[in-house]
Amino acid sequence: MKKLVASLVSLAFLAGFGAASAVAQDDHAAAPAGGEHAEGGTPHYPIQHPKQVDWSFAGPFGHYDRGQLQRGLKVYTEVCSACHSMKLVSFRTLEDLGYSEAQVKAFAANYEVQDGPNDDGEMFARKAVPSDYFPSPFPNVQAAAAANNGAAPPDFSLIAKARGVTRGFPQFVFDIFRQYQEGGPDYIYSLLTGYQEPPAGMEVPEGTHYNPYFVASASLAMAPPLSADQVTYDDGAPQTVDQYAKDVSAFLMWAAEPHLEERKRTGFMVMVFLVIFTGLIYLTKKSVYANKEH
Ligand code: HEC
Repeated sequence: MKKLVASLVSLAFLAGFGAASAVAQDDHAAAPAGGEHAEGGTPHYPIQHPKQVDWSFAGPFGHYDRGQLQRGLKVYTEVCSACHSMKLVSFRTLEDLGYSEAQVKAFAANYEVQDGPNDDGEMFARKAVPSDYFPSPFPNVQAAAAANNGAAPPDFSLIAKARGVTRGFPQFVFDIFRQYQEGGPDYIYSLLTGYQEPPAGMEVPEGTHYNPYFVASASLAMAPPLSADQVTYDDGAPQTVDQYAKDVSAFLMWAAEPHLEERKRTGFMVMVFLVIFTGLIYLTKKSVYANKEH
């Protein structure tokens, strides 16, 4: 009886919590979108929730598409790396994308890094080797900000993990069961493909570009970085903004979580183990208590 009451109470509590969250969500929805709510009320960003892409690395058996990662690397090196650093990723990890040691060596040699001091106490530049990290395009954050209208382009090493945009109730409850972990790449893809004309009557600060998917404001200091046919793909994939955005987002996910496949594999094995273990424990319990009276 006690048990029944306890579970009823906890059920009621859960229902109450759910209802409260739903009401809170309605409040959100009722608030006018974006910059139109200048008169009173705190703006809620992003104005639009990220679009959902069907990633190959989603779900418990997810795996990276090597071809896509290679294309993403190409987009990063030819476009984004002019502004965005990726200083926690070393060249040698690119072997993960299916490149040979020699290919990685040749790729690294395209970059120059600072080394030293030498015997005269001076710093010097040399060709990068596989153990070096992607060099930053700017000498420091201040220089990066000065060159970009006051906003420094964030480092890319962990950006796909750093921008898991919240999806609100009730979506986040389902996300737990779906094991949704692709908020970062969904966000980056949406941002790259989400530039639009600002709604009528809305003014964006000078030097910024309206984008309803941007997480911190209605517009950001990055101009739309991608355009069709900007990067040449040699595997026949379409050279569209949409495809570039997908590929570079997948690549950034890999950069942030290179061991994702291993983690998912291990997770699955652990689940299998736990199921078997639970069965064994149950049988053990039955056999230990077989002759006891209740
Ligand atoms: C000309 C320089 C430039 C290039 C090229 C560029 N970006 Fe940016 N990016 C910026 C700046 C500046 C910001 C900071 C914007 C702000 O905070 O207002 C930024 C911010 C971002 C953000 C973070 C947004 C957030 O939520 O804070 C992402 C993601 C991003 N860029 C992706 C890319 C990708 C992917 C590419 C390549 C396809 C790229 N950028 C190319 C300048 C650039």
